[in-house]
Amino acid sequence: MAHKNLIIEHRDAVVQITVNRPDKLNALNLDTLVELGDAIEDATADDGVRAMIITGSGDKAFVAGADIAEIHDLTPLQARDFSELGQQLMRQIEHCGKPVLAAINGFALGGGMELALACHVRIASDNARLGLPEINLGIMPGFGGTQRLVRMLGRSRALQMILTGKPIDAATAERHGLLAHVFSAQEMADQAWCLAQSLAAAAPIALRNIMEAVQTGQDMAMESALSMETQLFALCCSAQDMREGTRAFLDKRKPEFTGQ
Ligand code: COA
Repeated sequence: MAHKNLIIEHRDAVVQITVNRPDKLNALNLDTLVELGDAIEDATADDGVRAMIITGSGDKAFVAGADIAEIHDLTPLQARDFSELGQQLMRQIEHCGKPVLAAINGFALGGGMELALACHVRIASDNARLGLPEINLGIMPGFGGTQRLVRMLGRSRALQMILTGKPIDAATAERHGLLAHVFSAQEMADQAWCLAQSLAAAAPIALRNIMEAVQTGQDMAMESALSMETQLFALCCSAQDMREGTRAFLDKRKPEFTGQ
């Protein structure tokens, strides 16, 4: 499907989705949110895709937020729809069953940070800045930022970021556990492909079950979460990939996972 505001690139089993509005620092307008939902749906349905990268066009921004020009004119009812649309997209990413990597190549602000927080793994270039500056516009995060950030950072640090609106740099975000790795701006794109390729080579059913255990389990009571983990573990053992992975170890060779 052709997209106005996205660039879609396939390499082997990885698809990279680039938000492409560089003159607006890749801000998420309504059209882009809808296109992102379509692109994630396509990649989810495509059996040839085993991992996704989301990044931004240019060297300045990942995504500098929801489109402020559009927000300015929202009525409360439209604002509710807008927030729900953004939240649905983030949920769709979290639950798509394939690993989604955010390659944060600059500003990840507001909806851009919320997009990154919904991805399963985040890496960034050393010039990246992450923040939820909505307070400066007289609004608040509406694409899940108040909920995801507090779960990742704890209440004190999350509230400090959201109440002050002050962004943090990549090194600080890495220290706080928001980022898995920080790379130089030159290295970032290659490293993103590399990491996504390694995720794409892993056993898809196990990956899916791991993400479900982590995503769903964090909002459950411990006993129920452990019971879910047991069931997902057992499910992994119904897959041919489990026989292949364990056999390959015993045979001292690399496993080849097929997703069966
Ligand atoms: N929505 C709409 N347009 C945006 C945008 C956003 N979230 N972020 C940047 N832009 C636009 C600017 O309006 C400008 O457009 P113009 O050239 O037509 O005037 C263009 O992108 C470049 O941005 P500019 O502000 O000139 O770049 P800068 O380097 O001086 O500053 C930022 C970069 C990220 C600090 C600044 O753009 C910014 O604060 N953006 C808004 C961040 C935000 O509040 N996000 C949360 C939104 S809910």
